[in-house]
Amino acid sequence: MQVLIEGLALAAFGMIRDTTNKPLPKQILSYVMQDEARHVAFGRMALRDYYSQLSAAELAEREEFVIDGCYLMRDRLRGAEVLENFGLPKAEAETISEQSEYVTLFRKLLFSRIVPCVKDIGLWGPRLQQAYVDMGVLELGDSNLDLLMRQDEELAEQLDAERFAAEEAARVAEVEQAIAAGSAAD
Ligand SMILES: [Fe+2]
Repeated sequence: MQVLIEGLALAAFGMIRDTTNKPLPKQILSYVMQDEARHVAFGRMALRDYYSQLSAAELAEREEFVIDGCYLMRDRLRGAEVLENFGLPKAEAETISEQSEYVTLFRKLLFSRIVPCVKDIGLWGPRLQQAYVDMGVLELGDSNLDLLMRQDEELAEQLDAERFAAEEAARVAEVEQAIAAGSAAD
């Protein structure tokens, strides 16, 4: 549950972070993502050691939960209902949302964080692998989770650096202006 929900958070926030052209939401979401990346890291560290002590039956039960959760997140979170509310027929709404670049990006963000994490904590039985093959996301199990997380951190740090540099430049200009005004008054 922790891994799935934090993955969902990363996907939802990341989609807006990566598609907005407005600086303020981009900045806020970069910070939120930096925070969320740490939540994922927390679950990963906490569960990896614990899961290695579980029985095969206990692991199978958790895999079942992950399989159901992943299918639900793939099939339910795509916004066809919104389009239906605007009066589009169900089939058309489903086709449009299925082809939407937002849904594609959302799923990519979602599974690129969940699949490697699930694999890393030791839930990687044949049934779960088969479900990921069916969803077309099995190969994401090999994505470099550390790298993805570092990128989420770095985007926020880069924004900070840019912001502080801009503030610094504004401050320098202000001081120079004050000096110029002061010497003009002399
Ligand atoms: Fe979170």
